[in-house]
Amino acid sequence: MKIGDITMKNPVVLAPMAGVCNPAFRLIAKEFGAGLVCAEMVSDKGILYENEKSLKMLYVDEREKPLSLQIFGGERESLVAAAKYVDKHTNADIIDINMGCPVPKITKCDAGAKWLLDPDKIYEMVAATVDAVQKPVTVKMRIGWDEDHVYAVKNAQAVERAGGAAVAVHGRTRVQMYEGTANWDIIKEVKQNVSIPVIGNGDISTPQEAKERLEKYGVDGVMIGRAALGNPWMLYRTVQYLEKGEILPEPNAREKMNICMLHMDRLIELKGEEVAVREMRKHAAWYLKGLPKTGSVRNEINQMTTRDDMSKLLFDYVDQLEEKQQKIS
Ligand SMILES: Cc1cc2nc3c(=O)[nH]c(=O)nc-3n(C[C@H](O)[C@H](O)[C@H](O)COP(=O)(O)O)c2cc1C
Repeated sequence: MKIGDITMKNPVVLAPMAGVCNPAFRLIAKEFGAGLVCAEMVSDKGILYENEKSLKMLYVDEREKPLSLQIFGGERESLVAAAKYVDKHTNADIIDINMGCPVPKITKCDAGAKWLLDPDKIYEMVAATVDAVQKPVTVKMRIGWDEDHVYAVKNAQAVERAGGAAVAVHGRTRVQMYEGTANWDIIKEVKQNVSIPVIGNGDISTPQEAKERLEKYGVDGVMIGRAALGNPWMLYRTVQYLEKGEILPEPNAREKMNICMLHMDRLIELKGEEVAVREMRKHAAWYLKGLPKTGSVRNEINQMTTRDDMSKLLFDYVDQLEEKQQKIS
């Protein structure tokens, strides 16, 4: 897959996820083989007012590249100005515009999924951004606002006409939030009606599903979100399956906790121990998903405040689990 002149080594894309896709997790995703990683969304106004937290979110480690950096906003002027800032002051490869976020706090400012109601406005916005920057501009969208306003094809065509380099489509409406299932037939319709790359997104939870979506719906890339939470192996196993036809085994508990600790140590480097350990509580719970007898360790995670206590808790759990497994075998 190629976006502008940026070539991806495979079609597997880590979805942008707020509170998740910072450099610590993105680098792990890249090391686990993702062809493209997307950063969490950053507010256009936050960038323009030089809000410290927003500017920190623009940091990109060279090892993460190629990387797509996503901005959101509801007004053309500020979005274009933020895109110019990202273009000039970051080493991101792609500038992505969020047109999918369903959260009321965002849509009531005309940002995120609110764009989906007006293809003309999308055209003007994307055209103005493309004119103002050097980096390729892409859009991530949902299929529509609600079932009566599914303008996915028109909206994607507007992006293409405006000079957008690719479009990622999550197969749900704004009103669906995360309910129901993603409608891949509409993603296929988008693919058939534009010639820029289309990245399909929504409900891919196994390597086999990723392959099926690529083949059956003809998309150029597959974007994986929730299935990669605490599970970067999903990315690695998908790449391996697409390239070699092999389904690799799921990781064991120790392998999972080793990567969880690598994730935590990188997050500590970025944000300091206090903030990082708090943030890692949700990630640790995700890394434990699918492992047996995690009830009490999951409860205790939420009391952890230091790296060493968190590490001890997780590896005590692994030791006990391995002891039990040895006894059984
Ligand atoms: C925790 C979380 C945060 C998200 N943040 C963003 C975001 O910042 N920008 C965006 O475009 N989509 C965001 N999304 C949506 C995902 O990128 C993706 O479209 C959605 O999860 C569907 O894909 P999946 O079924 O593979 O999870 C977020 C989703 C989750 C679960």
